[in-house]
Amino acid sequence: MLSLESIVAGYGDAVALSDVSLTIAAGELVAVVGANGAGKTTLVNVIARLLPMRAGRLTWEGADLGRLPPQALGERGIALIPEGRRLFGAMSVEENLDMGCYRRSARALREEGLERVYGMFPILRERRGQMAGTLSGGQQQMVAIGRALMARPRLLLIDEPSLGLAPSVVQQVFEVIRTVNAQGVSMLLIEQNVALALQVADRGYVLENGRIVAQASASALLERPDIRAAYLGGV
Ligand SMILES: Nc1ncnc2c1ncn2[C@@H]1O[C@H](COP(=O)(O)OP(=O)(O)OP(=O)(O)O)[C@@H](O)[C@H]1O
Ligand SMILES: [Mg+2]
Repeated sequence: MLSLESIVAGYGDAVALSDVSLTIAAGELVAVVGANGAGKTTLVNVIARLLPMRAGRLTWEGADLGRLPPQALGERGIALIPEGRRLFGAMSVEENLDMGCYRRSARALREEGLERVYGMFPILRERRGQMAGTLSGGQQQMVAIGRALMARPRLLLIDEPSLGLAPSVVQQVFEVIRTVNAQGVSMLLIEQNVALALQVADRGYVLENGRIVAQASASALLERPDIRAAYLGGV
């Protein structure tokens, strides 16, 4: 279980997150949705320890994460799929996947991990030797998800997986997200695509100007007239 209590974070004089509290129970798929600049990436970077927090408490499986460096999170079962995917474009698909299993225990399970990822994304097996930078956006997102899965995480943080992808590809990526979650991996899904995110999530939080302004089951959020008006085109 991940728990954030009253987190404050920002850049210089600017506050990007104020008093943010959030939980993810084991096996849950939790969406954090919000407009451009709401603070979603800031939130995920605080959890991934890439950005220091100014106040608040961050715990995972009962342990204080607040003092750990980002490299320590893999060992603790947390993996991040960053915004924009951040692949090594001049490296092959398989070399990128290998970057996900730097932990010794995961490396021992490399073959099994590759089979899992290739089983989920058969196109990546076909393209295992191709440079990642030459793949389509959707295929690159598959590599990014696959790379994170190679570390065998218990919690996956995904920042804007739909960014820049064609709608049909987005559907495919979201199906994979659902499948991975069904295999028991807890997830924090960050999205601007509010409708899609709330369709796959168990629960959701709405972030506005660095504050949580709503939280409920995803289905309840989808029903709320104010959420529909603000984020779903009022339909
Ligand atoms: N490196 C940075 N330095 C200064 N300000 C930043 C930095 N990164 C983000 N910000 C500011 O912090 C606020 C939150 O940004 P953040 O990137 O977390 O939003 P977001 O919800 O992820 O947006 P998007 O949907 O565009 O990805 C914004 O006002 C942004 O301008
Ligand atoms: Mg962002």
